[in-house]
Amino acid sequence: MLEFIGKFHPVIVHLPIGIFVLAILFEFMVLSQRFQKLESNIPFILTVGIGFSILSLVTGLLLSQDESNKKTDVDLHKWIAIATTFLFIFYQVWRNQLAEKTYAQVLALIVLSTSIVLTGHFGGSLTHGKDFISFSNINKEEKLVKALVIPDINQAVLYKDIVQHTLSMKCVQCHGEERQKGKLRLDDKNGILAGGKNGIVINLNQPEQSELLKRLLLEDNDEYHMPPKNKKQLTGFEKTILQWWIVSGASFDSNIASMQPDKKTKLALAEFKKTYASGEIEKVKQRKEVNEIPASLKQDLEKDGWVISAISKKDNHIRAIGYNLEKPCDLALKKLLSIKEQLVELKLSSSGITDKDLSIVKQLSNIEKLWLDENEITDQGIKDLVDLNNLFYINLTFTAVSKIGIEQLMSNKALESVYVYQTGLNQSDFSALKNKWKNIKIYGADTMIKMPSDSLFQKRVK
Ligand code: HEC
Repeated sequence: MLEFIGKFHPVIVHLPIGIFVLAILFEFMVLSQRFQKLESNIPFILTVGIGFSILSLVTGLLLSQDESNKKTDVDLHKWIAIATTFLFIFYQVWRNQLAEKTYAQVLALIVLSTSIVLTGHFGGSLTHGKDFISFSNINKEEKLVKALVIPDINQAVLYKDIVQHTLSMKCVQCHGEERQKGKLRLDDKNGILAGGKNGIVINLNQPEQSELLKRLLLEDNDEYHMPPKNKKQLTGFEKTILQWWIVSGASFDSNIASMQPDKKTKLALAEFKKTYASGEIEKVKQRKEVNEIPASLKQDLEKDGWVISAISKKDNHIRAIGYNLEKPCDLALKKLLSIKEQLVELKLSSSGITDKDLSIVKQLSNIEKLWLDENEITDQGIKDLVDLNNLFYINLTFTAVSKIGIEQLMSNKALESVYVYQTGLNQSDFSALKNKWKNIKIYGADTMIKMPSDSLFQKRVK
Protein backbone atom coordinates (compact mmCIF):
# COMPACT_ATOMS: atom_id res chain seq x y z
CA MET A 1 0.00 0.00 0.00
CA LEU A 2 2.73 2.44 1.00
CA GLU A 3 4.62 1.61 -2.15
CA PHE A 4 1.42 2.39 -4.06
CA ILE A 5 1.14 5.86 -2.49
CA GLY A 6 4.75 6.44 -3.46
CA LYS A 7 3.80 6.03 -7.11
CA PHE A 8 1.94 9.37 -6.94
CA HIS A 9 5.15 11.22 -6.28
CA PRO A 10 5.94 12.09 -9.91
CA VAL A 11 2.45 13.61 -10.25
CA ILE A 12 2.27 15.47 -6.94
CA VAL A 13 5.68 17.14 -7.30
CA HIS A 14 4.35 19.43 -9.98
CA LEU A 15 1.98 21.13 -7.52
CA PRO A 16 4.50 22.67 -5.08
CA ILE A 17 6.73 23.65 -7.99
CA GLY A 18 3.87 25.51 -9.69
CA ILE A 19 2.64 27.07 -6.47
CA PHE A 20 6.09 28.23 -5.40
CA VAL A 21 6.74 29.70 -8.82
CA LEU A 22 3.49 31.63 -8.50
CA ALA A 23 4.48 32.90 -5.03
CA ILE A 24 7.85 34.07 -6.32
CA LEU A 25 6.18 35.74 -9.28
CA PHE A 26 3.81 37.61 -6.95
CA GLU A 27 6.73 38.67 -4.76
CA PHE A 28 8.35 40.33 -7.75
CA MET A 29 5.10 41.82 -9.00
CA VAL A 30 4.33 43.55 -5.71
CA LEU A 31 7.58 45.45 -6.06
CA SER A 32 5.52 47.58 -8.40
CA GLN A 33 2.87 49.82 -6.86
CA ARG A 34 0.31 48.66 -9.38
CA PHE A 35 0.17 45.10 -8.06
CA GLN A 36 0.33 46.02 -4.40
CA LYS A 37 -2.99 44.38 -3.67
CA LEU A 38 -1.55 40.93 -4.42
CA GLU A 39 0.64 41.23 -1.33
CA SER A 40 -2.01 39.88 1.03
CA ASN A 41 -2.28 36.61 -0.97
CA ILE A 42 1.37 35.65 -0.78
CA PRO A 43 1.47 34.13 2.74
CA PHE A 44 -1.45 31.88 1.84
CA ILE A 45 0.13 30.73 -1.42
CA LEU A 46 3.38 29.97 0.37
CA THR A 47 1.57 27.95 3.01
CA VAL A 48 -0.24 25.85 0.42
CA GLY A 49 3.07 25.38 -1.44
CA ILE A 50 4.81 24.21 1.71
CA GLY A 51 1.94 21.82 2.43
CA PHE A 52 2.25 20.15 -0.98
CA SER A 53 6.00 20.23 -0.72
CA ILE A 54 5.82 18.15 2.46
CA LEU A 55 3.37 15.78 0.78
CA SER A 56 5.85 15.40 -2.09
CA LEU A 57 8.65 14.63 0.36
CA VAL A 58 6.61 11.91 2.03
CA THR A 59 5.57 10.26 -1.23
CA GLY A 60 9.13 10.63 -2.52
CA LEU A 61 10.55 8.88 0.52
CA LEU A 62 8.08 6.03 0.06
CA LEU A 63 9.00 5.75 -3.59
CA SER A 64 12.70 5.61 -2.78
CA GLN A 65 12.05 2.42 -0.79
CA ASP A 66 11.85 0.76 -4.16
CA GLU A 67 15.55 0.56 -4.63
CA SER A 68 15.73 0.22 -8.34
CA ASN A 69 17.23 3.66 -8.83
CA LYS A 70 20.86 4.31 -8.15
CA LYS A 71 21.16 5.29 -4.51
CA THR A 72 23.51 8.25 -4.86
CA ASP A 73 21.24 9.87 -7.45
CA VAL A 74 18.22 9.43 -5.22
CA ASP A 75 20.09 10.80 -2.22
CA LEU A 76 21.13 13.91 -4.06
CA HIS A 77 17.58 14.63 -5.20
CA LYS A 78 16.22 13.83 -1.73
CA TRP A 79 18.51 16.20 0.17
CA ILE A 80 18.05 19.06 -2.24
CA ALA A 81 14.28 18.60 -1.99
CA ILE A 82 14.36 18.56 1.82
CA ALA A 83 16.56 21.66 1.82
CA THR A 84 14.20 23.44 -0.57
CA THR A 85 11.20 22.73 1.63
CA PHE A 86 13.00 24.06 4.71
CA LEU A 87 14.21 27.12 2.84
CA PHE A 88 10.61 27.98 1.98
CA ILE A 89 9.50 27.47 5.58
CA PHE A 90 12.27 29.79 6.85
CA TYR A 91 11.45 32.29 4.15
CA GLN A 92 7.76 32.30 5.04
CA VAL A 93 8.49 32.97 8.71
CA TRP A 94 11.07 35.62 7.92
CA ARG A 95 9.12 37.56 5.28
CA ASN A 96 6.08 37.82 7.54
CA GLN A 97 8.18 39.82 9.99
CA LEU A 98 9.58 42.22 7.41
CA ALA A 99 8.11 45.71 7.31
CA GLU A 100 9.16 46.36 3.73
CA LYS A 101 10.96 44.79 0.79
CA THR A 102 14.74 44.66 0.99
CA TYR A 103 17.51 43.55 -1.34
CA ALA A 104 18.09 40.62 0.99
CA GLN A 105 14.60 39.43 0.17
CA VAL A 106 15.20 39.64 -3.56
CA LEU A 107 18.38 37.66 -3.09
CA ALA A 108 16.50 35.07 -1.05
CA LEU A 109 13.95 34.73 -3.84
CA ILE A 110 16.72 34.05 -6.34
CA VAL A 111 18.15 31.36 -4.08
CA LEU A 112 14.70 29.80 -3.71
CA SER A 113 14.13 29.75 -7.47
CA THR A 114 17.49 28.08 -8.03
CA SER A 115 16.70 25.53 -5.42
CA ILE A 116 13.39 24.62 -7.10
CA VAL A 117 15.09 24.25 -10.44
CA LEU A 118 17.78 21.98 -8.99
CA THR A 119 15.30 19.77 -7.17
CA GLY A 120 13.21 19.44 -10.30
CA HIS A 121 16.21 18.75 -12.47
CA PHE A 122 17.67 15.99 -10.33
CA GLY A 123 14.24 14.48 -9.87
CA GLY A 124 13.70 14.56 -13.61
CA SER A 125 17.02 12.82 -14.20
CA LEU A 126 15.77 9.94 -12.10
CA THR A 127 12.65 9.41 -14.17
CA HIS A 128 13.88 10.36 -17.59
CA GLY A 129 17.54 9.36 -17.41
CA LYS A 130 20.67 11.43 -16.88
CA ASP A 131 20.78 13.59 -19.96
CA PHE A 132 17.09 14.17 -20.41
CA ILE A 133 17.78 17.79 -21.19
CA SER A 134 20.07 17.55 -24.12
CA PHE A 135 20.40 19.62 -27.24
CA SER A 136 21.57 16.73 -29.31
CA ASN A 137 18.62 15.12 -31.05
CA ILE A 138 20.44 11.87 -31.58
CA ASN A 139 19.51 9.81 -28.60
CA LYS A 140 21.52 6.96 -27.19
CA GLU A 141 19.52 4.35 -29.04
CA GLU A 142 20.18 5.90 -32.40
CA LYS A 143 23.88 6.06 -31.70
CA LEU A 144 23.81 2.41 -30.85
CA VAL A 145 21.91 1.53 -33.98
CA LYS A 146 24.34 3.47 -36.12
CA ALA A 147 27.37 1.72 -34.74
CA LEU A 148 26.09 -1.78 -35.41
CA VAL A 149 27.89 -3.43 -38.28
CA ILE A 150 27.39 -7.05 -39.19
CA PRO A 151 29.21 -7.85 -42.40
CA ASP A 152 28.29 -11.53 -42.27
CA ILE A 153 25.49 -12.70 -40.06
CA ASN A 154 26.87 -16.26 -39.88
CA GLN A 155 30.10 -15.04 -38.38
CA ALA A 156 28.31 -12.82 -35.87
CA VAL A 157 28.47 -13.81 -32.22
CA LEU A 158 24.87 -14.25 -31.22
CA TYR A 159 25.08 -12.67 -27.78
CA LYS A 160 27.57 -9.89 -28.41
CA ASP A 161 26.36 -8.78 -31.83
CA ILE A 162 22.65 -9.37 -31.62
CA VAL A 163 21.16 -10.28 -28.25
CA GLN A 164 23.05 -7.51 -26.48
CA HIS A 165 21.79 -4.99 -28.99
CA THR A 166 18.18 -5.94 -28.32
CA LEU A 167 18.64 -5.91 -24.56
CA SER A 168 20.36 -2.51 -24.74
CA MET A 169 17.60 -0.98 -26.78
CA LYS A 170 14.60 -2.47 -25.05
CA CYS A 171 15.54 -3.50 -21.51
CA VAL A 172 18.63 -1.77 -20.19
CA GLN A 173 16.97 1.57 -19.49
CA CYS A 174 15.28 -0.21 -16.57
CA HIS A 175 17.73 -3.06 -16.03
CA GLY A 176 21.13 -1.44 -16.33
CA GLU A 177 23.66 0.72 -14.60
CA GLU A 178 21.29 3.52 -13.73
CA ARG A 179 18.26 1.56 -12.63
CA GLN A 180 17.79 -2.04 -11.63
CA LYS A 181 14.06 -2.70 -11.66
CA GLY A 182 13.30 -6.03 -10.04
CA LYS A 183 16.96 -5.91 -8.88
CA LEU A 184 17.96 -7.19 -12.30
CA ARG A 185 20.70 -6.03 -14.65
CA LEU A 186 20.72 -7.10 -18.24
CA ASP A 187 23.61 -5.01 -19.52
CA ASP A 188 26.25 -7.70 -19.22
CA LYS A 189 26.84 -11.39 -18.75
CA ASN A 190 27.30 -11.19 -14.99
CA GLY A 191 24.05 -9.34 -14.49
CA ILE A 192 22.10 -11.72 -16.68
CA LEU A 193 23.47 -14.77 -14.90
CA ALA A 194 23.05 -13.24 -11.44
CA GLY A 195 19.29 -12.85 -11.95
CA GLY A 196 16.84 -10.56 -10.18
CA LYS A 197 15.00 -10.25 -6.92
CA ASN A 198 13.28 -13.58 -7.48
CA GLY A 199 16.40 -15.48 -8.40
CA ILE A 200 17.84 -16.58 -11.72
CA VAL A 201 16.19 -15.36 -14.89
CA ILE A 202 17.87 -17.83 -17.20
CA ASN A 203 17.60 -21.46 -16.25
CA LEU A 204 20.40 -23.32 -17.96
CA ASN A 205 19.04 -26.73 -16.96
CA GLN A 206 15.55 -26.07 -18.25
CA PRO A 207 15.90 -23.15 -20.61
CA GLU A 208 12.21 -23.15 -21.58
CA GLN A 209 11.39 -22.43 -17.96
CA SER A 210 13.59 -19.32 -17.83
CA GLU A 211 11.85 -16.38 -16.17
CA LEU A 212 13.24 -14.00 -18.76
CA LEU A 213 11.77 -16.00 -21.62
CA LYS A 214 8.42 -16.39 -19.89
CA ARG A 215 8.22 -12.64 -19.38
CA LEU A 216 8.80 -11.99 -23.07
CA LEU A 217 6.23 -14.50 -24.18
CA LEU A 218 3.40 -13.38 -21.90
CA GLU A 219 0.52 -11.48 -23.50
CA ASP A 220 1.43 -7.85 -24.12
CA ASN A 221 -1.05 -6.56 -21.59
CA ASP A 222 -0.16 -9.06 -18.88
CA GLU A 223 1.06 -7.32 -15.73
CA TYR A 224 4.30 -9.31 -15.80
CA HIS A 225 5.00 -8.96 -19.50
CA MET A 226 8.39 -7.43 -20.42
CA PRO A 227 9.00 -4.79 -21.60
CA PRO A 228 6.08 -3.34 -19.60
CA LYS A 229 2.99 -2.06 -21.40
CA ASN A 230 3.43 1.26 -23.18
CA LYS A 231 7.18 0.83 -23.43
CA LYS A 232 8.90 0.04 -26.68
CA GLN A 233 8.16 -3.63 -27.38
CA LEU A 234 10.30 -6.31 -28.98
CA THR A 235 9.62 -6.90 -32.63
CA GLY A 236 8.60 -10.38 -33.74
CA PHE A 237 12.08 -11.18 -35.01
CA GLU A 238 13.74 -9.92 -31.84
CA LYS A 239 11.49 -12.17 -29.81
CA THR A 240 12.28 -15.15 -32.04
CA ILE A 241 16.01 -14.53 -31.74
CA LEU A 242 15.98 -14.09 -27.94
CA GLN A 243 13.91 -17.21 -27.58
CA TRP A 244 16.32 -19.15 -29.77
CA TRP A 245 19.26 -17.83 -27.80
CA ILE A 246 17.83 -18.95 -24.46
CA VAL A 247 16.43 -22.28 -25.59
CA SER A 248 19.72 -23.22 -27.23
CA GLY A 249 21.56 -22.65 -23.97
CA ALA A 250 22.16 -18.88 -23.69
CA SER A 251 25.76 -19.06 -24.82
CA PHE A 252 27.73 -15.85 -24.54
CA ASP A 253 30.33 -16.64 -27.16
CA SER A 254 28.96 -19.00 -29.82
CA ASN A 255 28.77 -17.68 -33.31
CA ILE A 256 25.67 -18.12 -35.34
CA ALA A 257 26.94 -20.62 -37.87
CA SER A 258 27.98 -23.00 -35.08
CA MET A 259 24.46 -22.92 -33.65
CA GLN A 260 22.77 -24.02 -36.86
CA PRO A 261 19.70 -21.81 -36.90
CA ASP A 262 16.52 -23.28 -38.35
CA LYS A 263 14.62 -21.63 -41.16
CA LYS A 264 12.45 -19.41 -39.03
CA THR A 265 15.44 -18.20 -37.03
CA LYS A 266 17.42 -17.54 -40.18
CA LEU A 267 14.64 -15.32 -41.42
CA ALA A 268 14.53 -13.50 -38.11
CA LEU A 269 18.29 -12.98 -38.22
CA ALA A 270 18.10 -11.62 -41.73
CA GLU A 271 15.34 -9.29 -40.62
CA PHE A 272 17.45 -8.13 -37.70
CA LYS A 273 20.37 -7.35 -39.94
CA LYS A 274 18.18 -5.53 -42.40
CA THR A 275 16.60 -3.42 -39.68
CA TYR A 276 19.55 -2.51 -37.54
CA ALA A 277 22.71 -3.16 -39.45
CA SER A 278 22.22 -2.30 -43.07
CA GLY A 279 21.88 0.71 -45.33
CA GLU A 280 23.85 3.86 -44.96
CA ILE A 281 25.50 3.13 -41.66
CA GLU A 282 28.74 4.49 -40.40
CA LYS A 283 31.22 1.69 -40.56
CA VAL A 284 33.17 1.16 -37.40
CA LYS A 285 36.54 0.23 -38.75
CA GLN A 286 39.61 -0.95 -37.01
CA ARG A 287 42.02 1.62 -38.33
CA LYS A 288 45.65 2.12 -37.57
CA GLU A 289 46.16 5.09 -35.30
CA VAL A 290 47.44 8.18 -37.07
CA ASN A 291 48.68 11.59 -36.03
CA GLU A 292 46.50 14.63 -36.29
CA ILE A 293 47.28 16.67 -39.39
CA PRO A 294 49.08 19.94 -38.63
CA ALA A 295 46.80 22.99 -38.50
CA SER A 296 48.93 24.82 -41.08
CA LEU A 297 48.49 21.99 -43.56
CA LYS A 298 44.76 21.98 -42.98
CA GLN A 299 44.62 25.72 -43.65
CA ASP A 300 46.64 25.32 -46.78
CA LEU A 301 44.23 22.69 -48.09
CA GLU A 302 41.26 24.83 -47.17
CA LYS A 303 42.69 27.66 -49.24
CA ASP A 304 42.37 25.35 -52.23
CA GLY A 305 38.70 24.83 -51.50
CA TRP A 306 38.86 21.60 -49.54
CA VAL A 307 36.61 21.17 -46.54
CA ILE A 308 38.60 19.07 -44.13
CA SER A 309 37.22 17.46 -41.00
CA ALA A 310 38.13 14.64 -38.66
CA ILE A 311 36.03 11.48 -38.89
CA SER A 312 35.25 11.64 -35.20
CA LYS A 313 36.51 13.22 -32.03
CA LYS A 314 38.42 10.10 -31.16
CA ASP A 315 39.83 9.39 -34.59
CA ASN A 316 42.30 11.59 -36.45
CA HIS A 317 41.36 10.17 -39.82
CA ILE A 318 40.08 12.75 -42.25
CA ARG A 319 37.17 13.39 -44.53
CA ALA A 320 37.85 15.77 -47.40
CA ILE A 321 35.06 17.43 -49.35
CA GLY A 322 35.82 19.11 -52.66
CA TYR A 323 32.74 20.90 -53.88
CA ASN A 324 34.47 24.19 -54.39
CA LEU A 325 37.75 23.32 -56.00
CA GLU A 326 39.48 25.51 -58.52
CA LYS A 327 39.25 23.82 -61.97
CA PRO A 328 41.05 21.87 -63.25
CA CYS A 329 41.36 20.17 -59.92
CA ASP A 330 44.48 18.07 -60.44
CA LEU A 331 46.64 20.46 -58.40
CA ALA A 332 44.23 20.48 -55.49
CA LEU A 333 44.00 16.70 -55.66
CA LYS A 334 47.78 16.29 -55.64
CA LYS A 335 47.94 18.21 -52.40
CA LEU A 336 45.87 15.51 -50.75
CA LEU A 337 48.83 13.17 -51.09
CA SER A 338 50.33 14.93 -48.07
CA ILE A 339 47.47 13.68 -45.91
CA LYS A 340 47.28 10.35 -47.62
CA GLU A 341 47.71 8.44 -44.41
CA GLN A 342 44.84 10.17 -42.65
CA LEU A 343 42.44 10.49 -45.57
CA VAL A 344 39.65 7.88 -45.51
CA GLU A 345 36.66 9.67 -47.03
CA LEU A 346 36.74 11.73 -50.19
CA LYS A 347 33.74 13.58 -51.58
CA LEU A 348 34.26 14.73 -55.14
CA SER A 349 30.61 14.95 -56.14
CA SER A 350 30.18 17.31 -59.12
CA SER A 351 33.63 18.73 -58.61
CA GLY A 352 34.53 18.59 -62.29
CA ILE A 353 37.10 15.82 -62.00
CA THR A 354 37.80 13.69 -65.05
CA ASP A 355 39.24 10.26 -65.75
CA LYS A 356 42.84 11.40 -65.66
CA ASP A 357 42.41 12.84 -62.15
CA LEU A 358 41.66 9.37 -60.90
CA SER A 359 45.30 8.43 -61.34
CA ILE A 360 45.90 10.74 -58.37
CA VAL A 361 43.00 9.31 -56.38
CA LYS A 362 44.53 5.92 -57.00
CA GLN A 363 47.45 6.85 -54.78
CA LEU A 364 45.20 7.70 -51.84
CA SER A 365 45.32 4.13 -50.69
CA ASN A 366 43.49 4.50 -47.38
CA ILE A 367 40.31 5.72 -48.98
CA GLU A 368 37.26 3.86 -47.69
CA LYS A 369 34.44 5.96 -49.07
CA LEU A 370 34.57 7.76 -52.38
CA TRP A 371 31.95 9.99 -54.00
CA LEU A 372 32.47 10.57 -57.72
CA ASP A 373 28.85 11.27 -58.60
CA GLU A 374 27.90 13.91 -61.15
CA ASN A 375 31.25 13.94 -62.93
CA GLU A 376 32.33 12.95 -66.42
CA ILE A 377 33.92 9.71 -65.32
CA THR A 378 34.07 6.72 -67.67
CA ASP A 379 35.25 3.11 -67.49
CA GLN A 380 38.67 4.37 -68.49
CA GLY A 381 39.07 6.20 -65.19
CA ILE A 382 37.56 3.42 -63.11
CA LYS A 383 40.48 1.18 -64.05
CA ASP A 384 42.65 3.28 -61.80
CA LEU A 385 40.55 2.51 -58.76
CA VAL A 386 40.80 -1.25 -58.69
CA ASP A 387 43.73 -1.31 -56.31
CA LEU A 388 42.09 0.77 -53.60
CA ASN A 389 42.02 -2.07 -51.13
CA ASN A 390 40.15 -0.26 -48.39
CA LEU A 391 37.39 1.09 -50.56
CA PHE A 392 34.03 -0.18 -49.36
CA TYR A 393 31.70 2.52 -50.64
CA ILE A 394 31.69 4.21 -54.00
CA ASN A 395 29.11 6.51 -55.50
CA LEU A 396 29.03 6.71 -59.30
CA THR A 397 25.56 8.17 -59.75
CA PHE A 398 25.29 10.45 -62.82
CA THR A 399 28.58 9.33 -64.32
CA ALA A 400 29.23 7.68 -67.65
CA VAL A 401 30.46 4.34 -66.34
CA SER A 402 29.10 1.16 -67.84
CA LYS A 403 28.84 -2.45 -66.83
CA ILE A 404 32.45 -3.04 -67.87
CA GLY A 405 33.78 -0.46 -65.46
CA ILE A 406 31.68 -1.73 -62.58
CA GLU A 407 32.83 -5.29 -63.22
CA GLN A 408 36.42 -4.17 -62.88
CA LEU A 409 35.66 -2.49 -59.60
CA MET A 410 34.14 -5.63 -58.19
CA SER A 411 37.58 -7.11 -57.64
CA ASN A 412 38.24 -4.56 -54.88
CA LYS A 413 38.64 -6.60 -51.76
CA ALA A 414 36.70 -4.45 -49.33
CA LEU A 415 33.91 -3.25 -51.60
CA GLU A 416 30.40 -3.42 -50.13
CA SER A 417 28.22 -0.76 -51.70
CA VAL A 418 28.17 0.68 -55.19
CA TYR A 419 25.77 3.42 -56.26
CA VAL A 420 25.08 3.52 -59.98
CA TYR A 421 21.83 5.44 -60.37
CA GLN A 422 21.56 7.36 -63.65
CA THR A 423 24.57 5.82 -65.32
CA GLY A 424 25.08 4.02 -68.59
CA LEU A 425 23.74 0.83 -67.02
CA ASN A 426 20.49 -0.63 -68.23
CA GLN A 427 18.18 -2.90 -66.30
CA SER A 428 19.68 -6.13 -67.63
CA ASP A 429 23.27 -5.03 -66.87
CA PHE A 430 22.07 -4.22 -63.46
CA SER A 431 20.46 -7.60 -62.78
CA ALA A 432 23.47 -9.40 -64.23
CA LEU A 433 25.79 -7.56 -61.85
CA LYS A 434 23.54 -8.19 -58.91
CA ASN A 435 23.43 -11.89 -59.67
CA LYS A 436 27.13 -12.25 -60.11
CA TRP A 437 28.19 -10.33 -57.01
CA LYS A 438 25.68 -11.22 -54.37
CA ASN A 439 27.75 -9.92 -51.47
CA ILE A 440 28.14 -6.44 -52.88
CA LYS A 441 25.14 -4.16 -52.72
CA ILE A 442 24.51 -2.40 -55.99
CA TYR A 443 22.03 0.43 -55.84
CA GLY A 444 20.80 1.52 -59.20
CA ALA A 445 17.16 1.23 -60.01
CA ASP A 446 15.94 3.81 -62.48
CA THR A 447 14.66 6.30 -59.99
CA MET A 448 17.09 8.56 -58.31
CA ILE A 449 16.92 8.20 -54.57
CA LYS A 450 18.38 11.12 -52.76
CA MET A 451 20.08 10.40 -49.49
CA PRO A 452 19.20 13.02 -46.87
CA SER A 453 22.90 13.58 -46.31
CA ASP A 454 23.45 14.44 -49.96
CA SER A 455 20.78 17.06 -50.35
CA LEU A 456 22.81 19.66 -48.49
CA PHE A 457 25.31 19.88 -51.26
CA GLN A 458 23.28 18.66 -54.16
CA LYS A 459 24.06 20.39 -57.41
CA ARG A 460 22.35 19.59 -60.69
CA VAL A 461 24.15 18.70 -63.86
CA LYS A 462 22.75 20.69 -66.73
C1 HEC B 1 10.15 0.50 -18.24
C2 HEC B 1 10.98 -0.33 -17.42
C3 HEC B 1 11.27 -1.75 -17.83
C4 HEC B 1 11.72 -2.21 -19.05
C5 HEC B 1 11.99 -1.41 -20.31
C6 HEC B 1 11.96 -3.61 -18.87
N1 HEC B 1 11.62 -4.00 -17.62
FE1 HEC B 1 11.85 -5.84 -16.80
N2 HEC B 1 11.13 -5.19 -15.03
C7 HEC B 1 10.68 -3.93 -14.78
C8 HEC B 1 10.13 -3.85 -13.43
C9 HEC B 1 9.51 -2.62 -12.78
C10 HEC B 1 10.28 -5.14 -12.88
C11 HEC B 1 9.87 -5.60 -11.48
C12 HEC B 1 8.42 -5.87 -11.42
C13 HEC B 1 8.11 -7.19 -12.00
O1 HEC B 1 8.68 -8.19 -11.53
O2 HEC B 1 7.30 -7.26 -12.92
C14 HEC B 1 10.91 -5.97 -13.92
C15 HEC B 1 11.22 -7.29 -13.76
C16 HEC B 1 11.82 -8.08 -14.72
C17 HEC B 1 12.17 -9.46 -14.55
C18 HEC B 1 11.98 -10.27 -13.29
C19 HEC B 1 13.13 -10.11 -12.33
C20 HEC B 1 12.89 -10.85 -11.04
O3 HEC B 1 13.79 -11.54 -10.59
O4 HEC B 1 11.78 -10.71 -10.52
C21 HEC B 1 12.69 -9.90 -15.73
C22 HEC B 1 13.22 -11.28 -16.06
C23 HEC B 1 12.68 -8.78 -16.63
N3 HEC B 1 12.14 -7.69 -15.99
C24 HEC B 1 13.12 -8.83 -17.94
C25 HEC B 1 13.08 -7.76 -18.83
C26 HEC B 1 13.49 -7.83 -20.20
C27 HEC B 1 14.07 -9.07 -20.86
C28 HEC B 1 13.29 -6.62 -20.73
C29 HEC B 1 13.53 -6.18 -22.17
C30 HEC B 1 12.99 -7.00 -23.21
C31 HEC B 1 12.74 -5.76 -19.71
N4 HEC B 1 12.62 -6.48 -18.57
C32 HEC B 1 12.41 -4.42 -19.89
C33 HEC B 1 10.76 -2.84 -15.63
C34 HEC B 1 11.20 -2.89 -16.94
